[in-house]
Amino acid sequence: MSNCEWGVIGLGVMGENLALNLESHGFPVAVWTRNQDTVQSIVKKHSGVKFTGAKTMADFVKSLARPRRILLMVKAGGPVDSTMEGLKPLLEKGDIVIDGGNSWFEDTQRRDKDYTAAGLNFFGMGVSGGETGARFGPSMMPGGNKEAYEHARPALEAISAKTDSGPCVTYCGPDGAGHCVKMVHNGIEYADMQLIAEVYDVMGRCLGMGAFEIADVFQKWNSDTDPIASYLIEITGQILAVKDTDGAPLVDKVLDTAEQKGTGLWTNRLALMMSPSVPIPTIAAAVDSRVLSSKRNERIEASKIIPAAPIPEFTGDKAAMIGAIHDALLAAKICCYAQGMYLIQSASDHYNWNVSMKESARIWKGGCIIRAKLLDAIMKAYDRRLDLPNLLLDESFASQVREIAPAWRQVVCLAQNMGIPVPAMSSSLAYYDAYRTARLPQNLTQAQRDAFGAHTFQRLDDPDGPHAHHEWL
Ligand code: 6PG
Repeated sequence: MSNCEWGVIGLGVMGENLALNLESHGFPVAVWTRNQDTVQSIVKKHSGVKFTGAKTMADFVKSLARPRRILLMVKAGGPVDSTMEGLKPLLEKGDIVIDGGNSWFEDTQRRDKDYTAAGLNFFGMGVSGGETGARFGPSMMPGGNKEAYEHARPALEAISAKTDSGPCVTYCGPDGAGHCVKMVHNGIEYADMQLIAEVYDVMGRCLGMGAFEIADVFQKWNSDTDPIASYLIEITGQILAVKDTDGAPLVDKVLDTAEQKGTGLWTNRLALMMSPSVPIPTIAAAVDSRVLSSKRNERIEASKIIPAAPIPEFTGDKAAMIGAIHDALLAAKICCYAQGMYLIQSASDHYNWNVSMKESARIWKGGCIIRAKLLDAIMKAYDRRLDLPNLLLDESFASQVREIAPAWRQVVCLAQNMGIPVPAMSSSLAYYDAYRTARLPQNLTQAQRDAFGAHTFQRLDDPDGPHAHHEWL
């Protein structure tokens, strides 16, 4: 019987929850994974749910109404390729396969070409929101054939998170566009998390605040009227308030080495692949910070050989400093979104994807990890100027950052004077300062290149003129 409207392959927590989400919105779902025990136990676990547990991949395909809509929630890389290979001979013209994992977008482009040549439709779709999002409303970023999208759209819109700006899903563009937008989402996620970690460190070590006290600050910052309010701020407030069995903050007992699955690093890879490449120093700093944190043994050794000076007790106005930290976080966060949006725009131009920047901001307003109040302001900036090259060129963001920049500098100075690393916050500040400096010192860089390698230079009084060489030495 071909009565299932959707099929889900891969029944880890994300696959299981997306299947449940689809079913609860009225779409009967066929489920399958290589391990039959898993299929049977999922069907048994959700006995009241309209799941059809298929025995074989062929049965699974047969149980789907046409055009078949198959969501793959398998591990990125080889497993996506082998599942797609297995499906290919079983599918018919017009059927749609969607890879909902975090795949490298060039793999998606390759897979799209392969399926398109076979008359099939392939989508690379970023899914954000973790297990709760998958079950009750994720943000989804699909890329693929636009006409085929119409067959998937009703269900995707139904299961997505909803905000006052609509369902958190949109057609991002052809082939790798969706996975690229999701990858940059993750880059921003890394940067935002790193900024929050730095703020927590500054409040803890400079202001002598404990986790519970910092939790209160984050909870306050998550108010409806605060421009910094976001899901990450919200969960940080909750995490910092959690007690271990002995009543002490549990977060203080978590090993300080951050892991990563690679999407932050990929974001940097894409930024460097662009021509000209796109500076995303805040995102780069976030990836480096995770890597550096993982060198725990070396850090411990270094802390003995080159110990930091003890941090003196803070004697200034604590409430005012917390206010400055808030503003520094906001300014740095604006820069981090500016870098991410810039990268998406560059990739979209490069690959002719025609990604809508405003739509990208819109679908991040709910469901995903970086959902934040700031996204409303970002949407408005694109309303004011559709082809805005950098958020910092928007008059509203520009005046907001200009106003809070002194507080931002104050916090970076405080941290740096105390030997507390704030790589994301300080690199955002350097990005801001460099971006708004009409004349940078790279005249000297050019002169050096010409001096040691005859690489030539252009003249300030003739910026579009010919390249010249000078015998400097
Ligand atoms: C999301 C997340 C998710 C990602 C985790 C962990 O949007 O729901 O981005 O896709 O897998 O955040 O990523 P790392 O292990 O790299 O931190």
